Amino acid sequence: MLATAVADRFELVTVPPRRGVPSFAEEVGSGLRATPMRLSSKYLYDEVGSALFDAITRLPEYYLTRAETEILAQWGWQIVRMLDAPLDFLELGSGSAAKTRRLIGEALRLQTQLRYSPIDISSEAIRASSLALVESFPGLSVRAYAGDYFDVLRSCELYSARKMLAMFMGSNIGNYEPDHAAELLTLLHDALRPGDGLLVGADLKKDPATLELAYDDPAGVTAAFNLNLLARINRELDGTFDVRRFRHVAAYDERRGSVDSYLEARAKSDVAIGAIGMHLSLARGERIHTESSYKFDDEDLIRLGERAGFRSVSAWHDDARRFTVRLFVRGS
Ligand code: AVJ
Repeated sequence: MLATAVADRFELVTVPPRRGVPSFAEEVGSGLRATPMRLSSKYLYDEVGSALFDAITRLPEYYLTRAETEILAQWGWQIVRMLDAPLDFLELGSGSAAKTRRLIGEALRLQTQLRYSPIDISSEAIRASSLALVESFPGLSVRAYAGDYFDVLRSCELYSARKMLAMFMGSNIGNYEPDHAAELLTLLHDALRPGDGLLVGADLKKDPATLELAYDDPAGVTAAFNLNLLARINRELDGTFDVRRFRHVAAYDERRGSVDSYLEARAKSDVAIGAIGMHLSLARGERIHTESSYKFDDEDLIRLGERAGFRSVSAWHDDARRFTVRLFVRGS
């Protein structure tokens, strides 16, 4: 069979935000007026933040990416054989990494053609990773969606004639409050058909010291990742944060099962944000919540899937049992 040109196997659909969805400026305004102050973790990923996150995945303390890669390297062949081929893939997040490649490679040993549909907020990231994938796999075609997960799942016909395997990897599900995570999985449930699969990668509950080290590495890469959010406000919204007057704090809340990240004022700070005409004053020690990274045990994850209409089929763990990948099937 003749391989089709790369450009013919790649399509990008841009899904604009729904009316009423707040912008970065609006969310910064409402988050910094709230008590306690908060900024959404989705804004950590501008160009600088995405590069810093990429560095985080290679830190010795941030075991999550390596553990998930280990699971897919060892069990990818079995995962793609759990549902009947031929399959199409849908992924929340743009599989830049070796992880998605591994599953695509395994699927293309069972079928000659595969359609892969990633959804990602960054059209640049999704274009780059999609084109690289299409170039590596002659049997692959990509229909990528640039937009917010909720917006894309609500707006589009993600129709596929084949059985779908949806993927939500990297413990990205941990960034959502439990109710919000269930809502997102429910939307995914409604976009799929009975018998379609959902593969979720999630970080497991473990001792607080290991978790806190993973989110506050001694080299300060995670601190830079978090502090970049203040620098981004300075860059994009004409802000005057003195970034050096803030420090990164990560604390595991065992009751909620979440590592929470904050930016804490080291000293009293007066800040102006020109683009939204805002002035604020932070007392020394005052914190802005920037991220929650929920941790799961097997029961938590099974229950979350069931809340959204999925039935758990099988699960895999890395050898050190730090991370899990679980396969669900959509009920009728
Ligand atoms: C990409 C959301 C899975 O919460 O572990 C890494 C982001 N934050 N270090 C996570 C992150 C700080 C990461 N996720």
